[in-house]
Amino acid sequence: MTPPRHIAIIMDGNGRWARERGLPRIRGHEEGAESVRAVLRACGEAGVEFLTVYAFSTENWKRPEAEVAALMGLLEHFLKQETPELMAQNVRLQAIGRITDLPEACQRELHRAIETTAKNTGVTLILALSYSGRIEIIDGLRSLVRAVREGHIDEAMIDPEMFSQHLYTRSFPDPDLLIRTSGEMRISNFLLWQMSYTEIYVTPKLWPDFRKEELLEALRDYSQRQRRYGGV
Ligand code: IPE
Ligand code: IPE
Ligand code: MG
Repeated sequence: MTPPRHIAIIMDGNGRWARERGLPRIRGHEEGAESVRAVLRACGEAGVEFLTVYAFSTENWKRPEAEVAALMGLLEHFLKQETPELMAQNVRLQAIGRITDLPEACQRELHRAIETTAKNTGVTLILALSYSGRIEIIDGLRSLVRAVREGHIDEAMIDPEMFSQHLYTRSFPDPDLLIRTSGEMRISNFLLWQMSYTEIYVTPKLWPDFRKEELLEALRDYSQRQRRYGGV
């Protein structure tokens, strides 16, 4: 059984992990960053080509200012500190979402890390930052309308393949497997268009507790699935 080409993860449960230990929520996020490192490495070993992680949703801006600031600080720190490791592992970094919503310092580090790793040929790690599936679809629609208005395409040519080319994910395949940690059975505005035939795996494990073993378990589960795409 071939491994999934593309895994998408809703990394949930950092706050609960911290609360269970009487720690501040940010400690849960720090421990969650450790899980990203472990899962990325395991994906490389398993032959997964693309890993998209939901790091911050558009809705997450509603959280208390102190938590948002701490998350942005953690992101900046991760990007700075992790680039040599990404290089060593041959990982190419990419990002999806409204990147211009992020603080300047984060944007700078992000663009620097993306440029530095651009020629790597191993796993592509895609960070979903200030990401919303609905906003992505709206942004795609705007781009499509502009292309029609400027005469680049004819309205009659619009089909799902063409629309996909106007999304943030235009150069990535659709996810084969979605993993959501901490037991919640919902999509939370993640990759709405791209997940029409994605296999879903939900685990009660909290994200900071999701490491290599847990990923391998998800891969084993995936290998038992029968993907029919509406056929027989
Ligand atoms: C996921 O953990 C990380 C982000 C959404 C940034 P949460 O912070 O949502 O953790 P819970 O759901 O409160 O446990
Ligand atoms: C989803 O987690 C978003 C990220 C993992 C970044 P949330 O904790 O924000 O989602 P809900 O509120 O449980 O739907
Ligand atoms: Mg949550």
